[in-house]
Amino acid sequence: MDHVDLEITLAGWMAVSREFGGLTFVDLRDRYGITQLVFDMESNADLCNQARALGREFVIQIKGKVSERSNKNPNRPTGDIEIIVSDLKVLNESETPPFTVENETDGGEELRMKYRYLDLRRPSVQEKLFFRSKLAIETRTYLAAQNFIEVETPFLIKSTPEGARDFVVPSRVHHGQFYALPQSPQTFKQLLMVSGFDKYFQIVKCFRDEDFRADRQPEFTQIDCEMSFVDQEDILNTFEGLTKYLFKQLKNVDLPDFPRMTYDEAIAHYGSDKPDIRFGMIFRELNSVAQGHGFGVFDNAELVVGICAKGQAEKYSNKDIKHLTEWVQRPQVGAKGLVYVKYGDDGSIKSSISKFYSDEQLQSWGDLMGAEKGDMLLILSGEAEKTRKQLGELRLEMGRRMELMDPEDFKPLWVLDFPLLEWDEESNRFHAMHHPFTSPKKSDIDRMLNGDHETMKALRADAYDLVLNGSEIGGGSIRIHDRELQEKNFQLLGFSEEEAQEQFGFLLNAFRYGAPPHGGIAFGFDRLCTLMQGSDSIREVIAFPKNNQGRDVMIDAPANVDETQLVELGLEIRQEE
Ligand code: AMO
Repeated sequence: MDHVDLEITLAGWMAVSREFGGLTFVDLRDRYGITQLVFDMESNADLCNQARALGREFVIQIKGKVSERSNKNPNRPTGDIEIIVSDLKVLNESETPPFTVENETDGGEELRMKYRYLDLRRPSVQEKLFFRSKLAIETRTYLAAQNFIEVETPFLIKSTPEGARDFVVPSRVHHGQFYALPQSPQTFKQLLMVSGFDKYFQIVKCFRDEDFRADRQPEFTQIDCEMSFVDQEDILNTFEGLTKYLFKQLKNVDLPDFPRMTYDEAIAHYGSDKPDIRFGMIFRELNSVAQGHGFGVFDNAELVVGICAKGQAEKYSNKDIKHLTEWVQRPQVGAKGLVYVKYGDDGSIKSSISKFYSDEQLQSWGDLMGAEKGDMLLILSGEAEKTRKQLGELRLEMGRRMELMDPEDFKPLWVLDFPLLEWDEESNRFHAMHHPFTSPKKSDIDRMLNGDHETMKALRADAYDLVLNGSEIGGGSIRIHDRELQEKNFQLLGFSEEEAQEQFGFLLNAFRYGAPPHGGIAFGFDRLCTLMQGSDSIREVIAFPKNNQGRDVMIDAPANVDETQLVELGLEIRQEE
């Protein structure tokens, strides 16, 4: 409104036009929003005819006078004004776009991905990238103020084992040899600590050739950080501070101090190492009350465990229970069956297992689980680890159905004390739960150096994850900085001395020359951005994402390469026809 009566020049895209008596209204779209242009047939017929000939997505430049609108549009930042146009220039024409370039578009995802540059013209899509840019800028502001230095690390490196497969790049000069794209800058940031940089960060691309999932991309971005002369507490405080700062700056949300939970607690209470704590429905073990009463399924189970769904008893008919049972029996969840106990509003108790248990017994289960009239218990049983996972899935499903997962409700927490090693039955060896550079807890170092096989399974790491609304948005650890301990860890992970030397000689050597105690964390920048904006998919916050098959459908990658290129690279492979 401050600009009324000003003569201005605007350039942008013709979004839509409308005719209204002798007037033509054109919406001009630029990165700042949509502005209404007015052309009047009576005062300038040529200009008005020129405006009527404009097609969608023509690039135009106009001169005109800002005027107050009689019928204001409160839904637009520029909705109070319009421009009375005195001059119109077409800077470029456009073919009819394959979908409407508006927030409510008629284009499906695949089509929009193919024409991503047009999709990115839609204001709601642009907004996501403006947010992302601000998130990166604020990250830099915060970390720079804390004396962090931003250092770039190489993309053409040697494999770093972090659990996923590497993308590899053949060398033309050294036939038969390959670079790998980094899964993260893990070893480089540790070397920077050995170099004495003290506090490092980088907003950096990482590459992982892993199975596709909704919250993953083969190339994604981390806020990667490392600090020297710190313990776990310093790291948690620094990066809790960063997270709070980002929420304040970008969402005007004041996050309270983050709760902390051990890995064991998270698994026991939520069946997941990334619990969604926006709602309760905490697990309760029922072995002591449910076993020994002749119900074989429970009697033979390692674990009987349930959740209490508040106010659901009257909402779930027998048919609904049947559908819920089918839901837990889907292969993705894999439970054998589902037991319910409903505490009716009238005080009645209904259950699929009332044959085996008296009402008094079932009432005592309800008391144990804090159930009141109108509530429903959902109980699973079987092998402990699997059952907890299945109940974790069911808990989330109930949270969705009961609408307890408001995307604007932000509930972060730290999950601590992860196991150091994970025993893999299939390959008959240990894997690092976080990565091979993670330190055991100080109190476990002795047991790690001297303990037997079983002891190794119980070792805890100084490793932590930052979890937000059921999603892992960051993970890190205190690192091993002692050469002997690092060698021991490689040995436990099944590396021979030669293999460890060949793959990680550079790091082990660096540890000879005064490596400071250090640790760090990396945030999944895309994931954080997705959650903060309440977006449905990680793809929405990435300018040019891969689809759920790992393809870029716009540039059509991956693709064949020229035969001569292959020969140059010394690669003889049969390409797809
Ligand atoms: P980690 O492997 O846990 O740790 O990764 C850190 C964070 O990166 C995000 N992330 C992903 N985001 C999108 N697509 C993917 N494919 C993907 N994979 C991971 C997650 C995760 O929490 N070097 C260590 C960090 C450290 O120890 O400092 C590392 O990379 O949000």
